[in-house]
Amino acid sequence: MDARALKIEAARVALGHVTDGMRLGIGTGSTAEEFVRLLAEKVAAGLTITGVPTSERTAKLCDELGITLSTLEETPELDLTIDGADEIDPALSLIKGGGGALLREKIVAAASTRMIVIADRSKLVDTLGAFPLPIEVNKFGLASTAIAIEKAAAGLGLSGAVKLRMANAAPFVTDGGHLILDASFGRIPDTRALSQALHAIPGVVEHGLFLGMATAAIVAGADGIETLHATRQ
Ligand code: A5P
Repeated sequence: MDARALKIEAARVALGHVTDGMRLGIGTGSTAEEFVRLLAEKVAAGLTITGVPTSERTAKLCDELGITLSTLEETPELDLTIDGADEIDPALSLIKGGGGALLREKIVAAASTRMIVIADRSKLVDTLGAFPLPIEVNKFGLASTAIAIEKAAAGLGLSGAVKLRMANAAPFVTDGGHLILDASFGRIPDTRALSQALHAIPGVVEHGLFLGMATAAIVAGADGIETLHATRQ
């Protein structure tokens, strides 16, 4: 099975958790997009959901496929969010934001009673950090914020390049109008300490460590589907 087929399988199993009338957070990324395509088929067949997208990109795809959307203003509490991830550790802590949607993804997941992550096996890791950690930052004071991030990381024994994400030769700008710094720290043994240290920096809007948020992960591999469970901390 190729990578896309695995993503579709994980998305198909996740769709089984979506029930009529549900208030649903809808994730961002290539795996979440496979979920949106399958969801659209069910909606066309009569399933009713109230969907809240985690990005403009996902909102556009939902519009194109006939999924009517709501907002967190209209629907501030959700039953379930289904989203992808860049890395998943054994406690179901995640790195997210490879697609640049981490802020809205985290707000939507936090508004949800449950969060199911969908992924192929390549996303499973023992320790988070091989995937560069996306950190969403305010445009104002970018250089100072980058230095503050490096210093905070050094205080935890972490080092590595902190690079401004680019898109087509210009800085990548998030849906919220912010920038992203991708931090290649390598293994992050104490994710909670790093999360706290990053949140203490004024220019940091949010980071891509999702700790204690995922309640389950549906992981597709060549040998089948595995569902991993966690309890919210
Ligand atoms: C979007 O900002 C990300 O958090 C995605 O959910 C994550 O990058 C996974 O994307 P893929 O499903 O494309 O690997």
